Amino acid sequence: MKVDGKHFRSIWRATDGWSVGAIDQRRLPHEFVIARLTNCAEAAEAIRSMLVRGAPLIGATAAYGMALAMRDDRSDGAIDRAYQMLIATRPTAINLKWALEEMRRMLLPLPPSARSDAAYARADDIADEDVDINQGIAKNGLALIETIAAKRPGEAVNVLTHCNAGWLATVDWGTATAPIYLAHDRGIKVHVWVDETRPRNQGASLTAWELGHHGVAHTVIPDNTGGHLMQHGQVDLAIVGTDRVAANGDVCNKIGTYLKALAAHDNGVPFYVALPSPTIDFTVADGVTQIPIEQRGGEEVTHMTGATRDGRIETVRIVPEGSPVANYAFDVTPARLVTGLITERGVLQADRASLSAAFPERIATAAE
Ligand code: MRU
Repeated sequence: MKVDGKHFRSIWRATDGWSVGAIDQRRLPHEFVIARLTNCAEAAEAIRSMLVRGAPLIGATAAYGMALAMRDDRSDGAIDRAYQMLIATRPTAINLKWALEEMRRMLLPLPPSARSDAAYARADDIADEDVDINQGIAKNGLALIETIAAKRPGEAVNVLTHCNAGWLATVDWGTATAPIYLAHDRGIKVHVWVDETRPRNQGASLTAWELGHHGVAHTVIPDNTGGHLMQHGQVDLAIVGTDRVAANGDVCNKIGTYLKALAAHDNGVPFYVALPSPTIDFTVADGVTQIPIEQRGGEEVTHMTGATRDGRIETVRIVPEGSPVANYAFDVTPARLVTGLITERGVLQADRASLSAAFPERIATAAE
């Protein structure tokens, strides 16, 4: 997508042909900083520290991390060490494991001499495939927005979204935002309610930033506001992303998504989840009980970072010293609360039969 008129992906192979460039998302929205990753450890730290975040981008970064590892050492041991280093970064987004399995499956049969080039080529492909998939999601989700727009010509279609499932969370286009960008580019009036998404504020700092750069109308709201807006008919549909979808259609996403789904259900607001197929985990039968939920450091809750009046970036404490905090990063929305899954192969029911029928090849891979 465009930043001040210049096209950017969230991650790319640099012009030197081996290092990896990525937008440092921890510095947004106040500073636009490009990071340069030069080895596997830096790629792993970029994922752990959330320099890069969002399930599809975590997968793409892991693939480039493996390529950087192969540049330094092409042995079987190096593949395994890189796999272990990268898989240990964050537990919930399944795209991480998907990408590492893809890379390992491709690299192991190759002679070491061929592994570095092959790893870079596959990582580039994974990045390009992500963009193609998201454009498919855009087209399949567009119809949902068009249907509502047609009923109320000239009025904005009000979409609520949670966290950042935008182009910053993928390689480009985003998942939940993809239909929104396409509708906007097609001249359909769209307005987005953007949940701030405590404690790291991915909505307020990232989704608002990217929608603003694309000229999409939006309003940032505290996380607890969505239910009230739904009760008063100000939300036409909700579209969120996901870090892992179980075989039964349960959806894991940023903490707070489950509460939004409950409010949507209670008010008859359609609740859609946009996802690329690498985010489906057919090895998990029941999402609510089986998906590992990341718990992150308490300082993300006790402190907040922002810009002072004179533009300095500062972090301040907002919770009393000594008060214990808990920081669950994700929750699981049961399939029964999901109106549909917007994928690159269509809008599906959130159930095993629909997911299996749409992605039979993924079941085979999961069984291996
Ligand atoms: O902790 P984060 O910022 O990585 O969480 C991101 C989300 O929950 C996104 O909604 C999800 O990864 C989908 S991104 C297309």
